[in-house]
Amino acid sequence: MVELAYSILAADFAHLADEIALAEQGGGTICHVDVMDGHFVPNITFGPPVVKAIRPVTKAPLDCHLMIEDPDKFIPAFAEAGADMVSVQVEVCRHLNRTLQLIADHGMKAGVVLNPATPLEHVIEVLDMVHHVLIMSVNPGFGGQKFLPRSIDRIATLREMRDTAGLSFRIEVDGGIAHDTVASVVEAGADMLVAGSAIFQPGKTVANAQDFLRVARAAAGETS
Ligand code: DX5
Ligand code: ZN
Repeated sequence: MVELAYSILAADFAHLADEIALAEQGGGTICHVDVMDGHFVPNITFGPPVVKAIRPVTKAPLDCHLMIEDPDKFIPAFAEAGADMVSVQVEVCRHLNRTLQLIADHGMKAGVVLNPATPLEHVIEVLDMVHHVLIMSVNPGFGGQKFLPRSIDRIATLREMRDTAGLSFRIEVDGGIAHDTVASVVEAGADMLVAGSAIFQPGKTVANAQDFLRVARAAAGETS
């Protein structure tokens, strides 16, 4: 089943609870939280206190995408704050197996993220440990960037790797996903669809989410 993971990076931070409610009214079922540290990426966003603040305002799983150096140091704090899923960038994990185990040991679903220039082979040895693999379809750091078309082949290859290995991890895609790009990523095999700027817009959030999901479900051959 395809799901919309609405990215609150594009929401109005002064009204976060209302924004989350609108995205969910439109059909969003995963709350994607972009954590940036100003080191791994050239931007700073939010951390565990914001996760803790939004935890009571939604029943949706909180999907924390850590774009930070040294994620091991912060995994316990995200668990404590109420995160359900935590994904780490493969580029910063010297001991990736250990980091993924640490996430699982804290009762969260572990994911691994690959930047556009990182070969898929870098995660092959941990595919049986993850709940999801996140393919970045822009370079991380900012919302509203243009989708990188090469991502389609990467998603399709990852799906083949999953099928060949007989595994069932989910395939998440993030960056530049909008009404015009979502069908091709779904057809390639993605089923957790992150979108920020295509969803959050004053007065249009509910309709944007509904339209986005309509296109995604049609591409997946699902009846809605
Ligand atoms: C980018 C973030 C994304 C971002 C996507 O570094 O990881 O989750 O919010 O934003 P859009 O959907 O606007 O490309
Ligand atoms: Zn993200």
